[in-house]
Amino acid sequence: MELIIEKLVHRGAGLGRIDGRVCLVPRTAPGDRVRARIVRERPGWIEGELDELLSPGPDRVAPRCPVFGRCGGCQWQHLDAARQPFLKADILADTVRRLGHVELPAPAVVSGPPWGWRGRIELHASPSGQLGFFEAGSHRIVDCADCPIALPRLSSLIPPLRERVARHPPAGSTTVEPVAGADGSIVVVVRGCGSGLPVLAAQVRELPGVSGVILGVAQRAGTRWTTSGQVRVPWTVPGPEGPLTLQLDSRGFSQANPGLNTALVNAVVSAIGPEAPGQVLELYAGAGNLTVPMAARGLDVTAVEVNGPALADGRAAVRALGRSARFLPGRVEDVVRSLDRQRFDVVVADPPRTGLGPVAAALVALAPRRLVLVSCEPSTLARDLRVLTDGGFTVQAATVIDMFPQTWHIESVLTLTRGDPRDGPGRPDAGPVV
Ligand SMILES: C[S@@+](CC[C@H](N)C(=O)[O-])C[C@H]1O[C@@H](n2cnc3c(N)ncnc32)[C@H](O)[C@@H]1O
Repeated sequence: MELIIEKLVHRGAGLGRIDGRVCLVPRTAPGDRVRARIVRERPGWIEGELDELLSPGPDRVAPRCPVFGRCGGCQWQHLDAARQPFLKADILADTVRRLGHVELPAPAVVSGPPWGWRGRIELHASPSGQLGFFEAGSHRIVDCADCPIALPRLSSLIPPLRERVARHPPAGSTTVEPVAGADGSIVVVVRGCGSGLPVLAAQVRELPGVSGVILGVAQRAGTRWTTSGQVRVPWTVPGPEGPLTLQLDSRGFSQANPGLNTALVNAVVSAIGPEAPGQVLELYAGAGNLTVPMAARGLDVTAVEVNGPALADGRAAVRALGRSARFLPGRVEDVVRSLDRQRFDVVVADPPRTGLGPVAAALVALAPRRLVLVSCEPSTLARDLRVLTDGGFTVQAATVIDMFPQTWHIESVLTLTRGDPRDGPGRPDAGPVV
């Protein structure tokens, strides 16, 4: 079937039409004329696969990586890197309109270097001695000698890691995750099962550039952790008078793109507004990536996080600053219910891909003046915005921060207010928040 790609949609595929019916074709670009094969008829749309590029659209470029198309890590190397953030802004607005029936203000766009940005990479090792990334949608391993989206020091660790895994293959499927610290260090987290894993971990520890190894061996009673060398990695966040450093446990969540983290934090802080915002409730706080910059600016923060070690890291970082914040352990769904009698002026929420879900209705009940919502998944954001706007919030501003170049993943920061929509945050002339 021949079709012309009109635009890109959620999850990054190109949209064309066959006899008026929508056909989604991965690895195409707007304006491409392609021959596509029908893979499956879905309710309301057709799943297609690119057979032949007949003529390229203006945003199409040659992919840089030899395993592009097989490796599950990147989906967008065929698109001009300079255009990717703008294509993401269009997809964000389109997805929120289509799934949530909410109209966003035109998103602002922030981007950084399109290559060499990933600060942690998840490699997989097999009993046959292979090491690489998973193929898209499968657990087959793609052998690769490097990774152009990883920080160069992580990418250049791939060949020696492959060599060690080939010599000491694990007994079962194993992940090998090098995590880069802001000081140039690398801590490798090795997780899997089998008695041979400590030998592999010891071999990894000897590699030049590796500052520490954390080994997690799955056992009936749970994962048994042992460490060798450095365990935590330094992580930089912007403070009011310059960068601040946190020490993160490499096993916990950290933003994948350390180079754009400052932009993310600044977007959140400026969305809160320039004036004293009163009480701030931060949901899904992780190890304090947003908590510390807010506390450093003297904000009165209550942070909620389910991961105990991450919460302890955040608490230690705030204390080391000589500042204070309240840390509440537990699931946001549960903790928020216990807060219903307290007043918060601002809520900052940075949920995982699943989004706020039932927490969106709880935020309507909590009724803060403003809400700063960080999302890494437009489809769950669309669902949450439906609930929030029905509950009286108005979206004032949206920013796409291209934290994941060469992939279809979209990170955004939205500012919402209740009450008079002209009383908006994130606007240069926004007045006091309280
Ligand atoms: C996208 S991360 C954001 C972390 C932090 N804001 C940052 O920038 O690094 C989401 C965080 O939510 C936590 N989390 C996931 N589900 C949760 C839940 N139901 N209740 C509380 N925290 C949760 C995870 O442990 C993770 O730290």
